[in-house]
Amino acid sequence: MSEMGTRRLVLTPWTAELAKDFVALLARPELVRFGYGRPPTPSMALGRLSEIVLEWETNGFGAYAIRERESGVIGGYAGVHVPQTIPELAPLLEVGVRVVAEWWGKALAFEAMVPIMNFAFEVLNAPGVAGVFLPANTAARNMNQALGMSFHSQVVRPGTGMLLEVHRATRDDWQDVKHRHGLEG
Ligand SMILES: CC(C)(COP(=O)(O)OP(=O)(O)OC[C@H]1O[C@@H](n2cnc3c(N)ncnc32)[C@H](O)[C@@H]1OP(=O)(O)O)[C@@H](O)C(=O)NCCC(=O)NCCS
Repeated sequence: MSEMGTRRLVLTPWTAELAKDFVALLARPELVRFGYGRPPTPSMALGRLSEIVLEWETNGFGAYAIRERESGVIGGYAGVHVPQTIPELAPLLEVGVRVVAEWWGKALAFEAMVPIMNFAFEVLNAPGVAGVFLPANTAARNMNQALGMSFHSQVVRPGTGMLLEVHRATRDDWQDVKHRHGLEG
């Protein structure tokens, strides 16, 4: 479990010590609108944190807190996961990011995803990564497109009947993005 950094951000694996920050983050309606629908209660959020910690212990990778380097403020989370919602997406790994509204439109979410994508392809050797989102979530669609993803499938979320869209990027797709935007090396 180790931190990853970018010019403006530090990505730290979520641990129980960051419980207060995690609960505060999940209390932000804009962060959870597409997903939980409305903010979970603090005890539900803590239950979710326990799952995240367990995921780190089990897989050796998972979700990171995104901290702004200069201010030290945690404004989101991002991660790479064995697909949980749609297990049949394996061997693709699922990636995702959520940031608070003050950070929107500043390319911070994209910046956080650069080391996550690199980690997925270069360290975990993923054959591809998938982004899963509700079709109405235009920001997630744009984000995934910026990461080199394109439409893969539509799936119904087990148990809820909710329709989800899956977009996918291969290693070459990600290399292409890095090449186009000078993100190599
Ligand atoms: C989805 C979410 C993270 C996007 O945040 P954002 O602040 O709009 O995203 P960013 O500004 O970092 O990045 C997206 C944009 O960055 C661009 N971008 C930024 N830096 C870039 C770079 N170096 N190279 C290429 N593209 C870049 C992308 O083209 C994209 O542009 P567009 O949205 O104008 O088409 C945010 O809306 C959010 O947290 N929403 C709530 C949670 C959520 O729904 N998450 C998705 C769950 S699946």
